[in-house]
This record gives sequence, structure tokens and C-alpha cells, in this order.
Amino acid sequence: MAFWNRRRSIDAMNAPHDGPALKKTLGWPHLIALGVGAIVGTGIYTLIGVGAAKAGPAVMLAFVIAGLVCVFAALAYAELAAMMPASGSAYTYSYVALGELLAWVIGWSLILEYSLVVSAVAVGWSGYFSGFLESVGLGLPVWLTTGPFGSETPGLVNLPAVAIVGVVAGMLMLGTRESATVNAVLVAVKVLALAAFVAIAAPHFDPANLQPFMPFGFGKSLDAEGVEVGVMAAAAIIFFAFYGFDAVSTAAEETKNPGRDLTIGIVGSMVVCIIIYLAVAAAAVGAMPFTEFAASPEPLAHIARTLGSDTAATVIAGAAIVALPTVLLAFMYGQSRVFFVMARDGMLPRKLARVSEKRGSPVLMTGVTAILMAIIAGLFSLGELAALANAGTLAAFVAVGASLIVLRIQQPKRERVFRAPLWPVVGLGAILGCLYLFVSLPVSTQVNFLTWNAAGLVLYLVFARRNTRLAKGEEAEA
Ligand code: ALA
Repeated sequence: MAFWNRRRSIDAMNAPHDGPALKKTLGWPHLIALGVGAIVGTGIYTLIGVGAAKAGPAVMLAFVIAGLVCVFAALAYAELAAMMPASGSAYTYSYVALGELLAWVIGWSLILEYSLVVSAVAVGWSGYFSGFLESVGLGLPVWLTTGPFGSETPGLVNLPAVAIVGVVAGMLMLGTRESATVNAVLVAVKVLALAAFVAIAAPHFDPANLQPFMPFGFGKSLDAEGVEVGVMAAAAIIFFAFYGFDAVSTAAEETKNPGRDLTIGIVGSMVVCIIIYLAVAAAAVGAMPFTEFAASPEPLAHIARTLGSDTAATVIAGAAIVALPTVLLAFMYGQSRVFFVMARDGMLPRKLARVSEKRGSPVLMTGVTAILMAIIAGLFSLGELAALANAGTLAAFVAVGASLIVLRIQQPKRERVFRAPLWPVVGLGAILGCLYLFVSLPVSTQVNFLTWNAAGLVLYLVFARRNTRLAKGEEAEA
């Protein structure tokens, strides 16, 4: 088979292999906690303001559109993850359904996604944390809280962002189990804080705040300052708020009963988040004109404070500081696992796949990836990182939709523990929805994404193409 079209077989992949293995310690409650922990974060706490600036009150519609696309993707993920309970998520599914070259592109895009989400959320966290330090009279100088690139007031390095990446990496290296339990408590904190926000804002709902509903139109267009606006431009950014359920599928190999647990974990965490977000978005835009909170770096706390509840504002900000690191935890976990699986497959140097004997997890990989994420978090701004992370994620979701369709056609008889409903609507919905969101991203983001993948292709052709397990005949092709 030509190298770009080499495919792994599902049977070979699901069979026990002689390479390093991860311990099976997780059940579905861990996975829902991992999912909600990965999903609820900077998107709802901070980017809701950016979305409102682009769409006005119709940011609610942006939430619905981005959420719907993610439901399609989540259903496709659930079917594939239950069928192939192997770590690596979209990368692994693509290797089976779409061939080695596209698998590489998706793995390379996932590396971009996971790294930049960690860096972006670290930068968002740093904003809240720096505000907190200032409020208690310990404020850091701007040059230590802002990176040199992409910010209106460039500094030298975003020190709190670098520090939080280090702390979370340390937690992760202590072992999956302990971290997952801490994660579950923090997930409760951030969800309760959002519930408190809705309880405070909802009584102030005034339909007049929703007029005009769509001040900047539906499709992406440029405003007078050359900034992308419109409901779709908002949806392309708000998309950030919804993903993270894919981090659940990267835990497949460590799941006790993958068929049942992965499905409940992925679809369950997605549904929980959609309900929470729509409640928060409706409460926010209904409580006051969007122009009054859109530019705030802490929109939810700002709304609560303006409505007269300083205590609620403090609680919401505190919850963000304490609980946003759960998103870092989940994505850093996913990142190290994608690297691990790609290295085990020979796409990256195999030394990287070493599993610590004591911990049963890839400690070396976690450390190496955390250093890269910390450097990026220290240098760039939130907006740029979030948009580029979205591009990587959209590529992965397109591949998952396509893999679902290809495998249903090529292997119709294979047992599927979970079947995505409404064939072929789910696969097509994921592909077309993600493509529409991709074209709605800023052009500069699209160019950066393509540049990243061009560099990745060179690496593939120079290194990976000759070194994969399939290339060396160490595993039978499909
Ligand atoms: N969905 C995650 C967040 O909003 C990435 O922070």
C-alpha cells in the first residue's frame, strides 16, 4: 500500500500489544468529570464577552450553532471511541479510516489544539489571578503578566501563566487517579459558580436588552476597524467553549469498561455543558446591554458586580482561579497521551513513549510537553491562542466525521457498542459544520494553521514516513 494510504486495522489495534501499556483505572464518573472539567473553562468565563462583542445578543445563537456542531462531533467520537478504545482519539481513528498521511495531519493538529488550549487557558487564568493579586495590594508589574506577542500592551513574559502550567503538570505527573479526584471537586466548584451567576442575573432579565438581536448580521464580515464580526464569527470563537469531550476519548486505554463508560462520558459531559452555557448566555445578555460587559476581561464577575452583588462577583472570580486549572489538567493529559500514542506508533521518536514504571503513565512526555506549553503561555495573547486552537480542533472534528462515514461504509458489519443516530446526518453535520466554522475564523488564523501543517508535512516526509510500525512491518496493515 502507498505510504500515505497505509491504514491500521481495528483488530490489530484492539489486540493486546507488546509495547508499553497504561493502567486501567477510570470509570464513567471519572470520565464525565474529566469531560466537564475539560469543557467548562475560559470559553464561558471569558470568551463569552468576545462573542457578545462580535454578535450582540445573538451570541446566544452562536452558542447554539457551536454547540450543535459539537453534538454531531461528540456523537461521532462516541461511536469511534467505543469501537476503538485505544488512546489517541481523532488521530487513531484517522489512522484506521483515512490512512497514515491524514492521521499524521490530524495528530499534528491535535498537538496544536491541546498545547494551545493549555496555553490559552493559562493566559485566561493569569488574567483573573493578576486581578486578584492587585485587589489585595500585591499586583505584579504589567511586564510580568503579559507576553510580548499579540497584546495591546506587550510585556516581557506572562509569569503567572507559566507558573500555573508548571503546577498542573506536577499534579498530572503524580498520577491519573489522584488528579482525577481533585479534578472532580474543582469541576463542582466551577459549575456551582455558574449556577450562582444564573441565579443572580436571571431576575434582571429585560427583553429590551435583546434588541436589536443581531446588530452585526449573521455571516462573517469586517467592521470599520477590520475586525471580524457577525454571528458566525462569534460562533467560530465560542466553539472554544464547547470542546474538551475529545479529551475523554484520549483516556480510552485507561478506562475499565470502554464500551459503556466512553459513551456515557462523552455524550453526557457534552449535554451537561450545553444546558449550562445556554442558561449562562441567556442570563448574561438578558441582564444588561451587551456593550456594557463585552470588553471586560472578567465578564461574568463584571455583570454580577454591576447588578449589585459584590459577593457573587468575588465568588465567581474565585471559582475561576481555583477551577480553571481543571481544563489545563484535562488537555495536558490529552496532549501527553496523543504524543505517547504517536511515538508508540513510530510517528515520533519512540523514546518519547517510555512509561514510568512506578506511575504507569508517560511522565517524561508530560514533562516535555508542559515545558513547551509554558513557554507559549508566557509569550502570546489569549485571543490568538484560542482562535488557533479552534482551527486545530476543527480539523480533528472533520476527520472524526469523515472516519465515521468511511468505517460505516467499509466495515458495516463490525460490532458497534454505540451507534451514532440519524445516519448519515451526524457524520455530515460534523464535517460541514466544522468547515463552516473554519471559514468563519480570522484569515490570519487560517494562514497560521496551514503553515503549522505545512511544517508538519515536512516532518512526516523526512522522519515519520519511514519509521512507523506499519512502515517497518511491525504491525500488519488493514
Ligand atoms: N472548552 C474549554 C474552555 O472553554 C477549552 O476553556
